[in-house]
Amino acid sequence: MRMIVNSITYKPQRASHYCLWKRLVGAIMSAPIASMGRCDVMRLMMNDLFDVSGKVALVTGGSRGIGEMIAEGFVANGVKTYISSRKAEACDATATRLSEQGECISIPADLSGSKGISVLVDEIKSREDQLDVLVNNAGATWGAEIEEFPETAWDKVMDINVKSPFFLTQALLGLLEKSACPEDPARIIMIGSVDGLNVNRLPTFSYGPSKAAVHHLTRTLASHLADRNINVNAIAPGPFPSKMMAHTLGTMGEQIRQGVPLKRIGKSEDMAGTAIYLASKASSYVTAAVIPVDGGLIGAAGTL
Ligand SMILES: NC(=O)c1ccc[n+]([C@@H]2O[C@H](COP(=O)([O-])OP(=O)(O)OC[C@H]3O[C@@H](n4cnc5c(N)ncnc54)[C@H](OP(=O)(O)O)[C@@H]3O)[C@@H](O)[C@H]2O)c1
Repeated sequence: MRMIVNSITYKPQRASHYCLWKRLVGAIMSAPIASMGRCDVMRLMMNDLFDVSGKVALVTGGSRGIGEMIAEGFVANGVKTYISSRKAEACDATATRLSEQGECISIPADLSGSKGISVLVDEIKSREDQLDVLVNNAGATWGAEIEEFPETAWDKVMDINVKSPFFLTQALLGLLEKSACPEDPARIIMIGSVDGLNVNRLPTFSYGPSKAAVHHLTRTLASHLADRNINVNAIAPGPFPSKMMAHTLGTMGEQIRQGVPLKRIGKSEDMAGTAIYLASKASSYVTAAVIPVDGGLIGAAGTL
């Protein structure tokens, strides 16, 4: 019994040992367990299902807001987590803060174009021989009345929200594939939005369409990567506190809160919990899903 517990609670220090470790745990769990109490078995199974420790992840836009919430959840649960954003000082400061709970490394880069994507990918490749989880979170929005909406803003939003996740994913496929196995596939988590599912009446004309594209890109990538053991899912957040949402929540916060069936704004643990689930063995059979994390905004708000 002690030997079984020790084997299962062992945490691989290197990501390359991860799949081997998962197979070993699987074999132990299917061995006769008559001598174990029922509660022991249940607890070990839950630990195994949601345990993400020993994995390696990259969270784009991890310096603040939703990316930081996800990165913090990963770091606190033993994931070696890389974060990236344009402003080096802010990215470094977040990595230093999160490193108090585990391992967080800052790699600043502007991901809106191929040059910045190469900087990030080259740096990751020089440090890791495989990647377990890629979170495509970095994003931007723009608001202007329809007559004044600039073409540059349209392109800026589409580039960072849609184009960059595709080309970053393309560049990291080799590393993801090295961690992928049927028992615990590699994961890509796309950050969409409820604005890609419902029409937002604010004049953010390129944002909603960009997020609808993110959801469809999620399904397209999932379809193409399923036979390479890479699962691709999206989180569609409702309102969460962040720099992007600061003005909207500052001016319409109470109205937004009242419109959410659960009557509150999202919290760090709401976002971290869903990301951990999507990175863990518990979601191995989930791919091409778009999961609203929105207090019921999409599914339960009704029309009256
Ligand atoms: N907050 C919400 O309520 C909400 C709701 C639905 C969806 N979302 C989505 O969640 C994601 C995160 O948004 P947020 O609310 O947390 O916004 P945020 O606070 O503005 O954070 C955006 C992050 O992306 C980074 N970033 C922006 N442009 C970048 C670029 N060109 N290259 C690299 N990094 C870049 C930012 O850092 P730098 O400025 O230093 O580059 C920052 O780390 C976005 O995809 C957003 O659309 C948010």
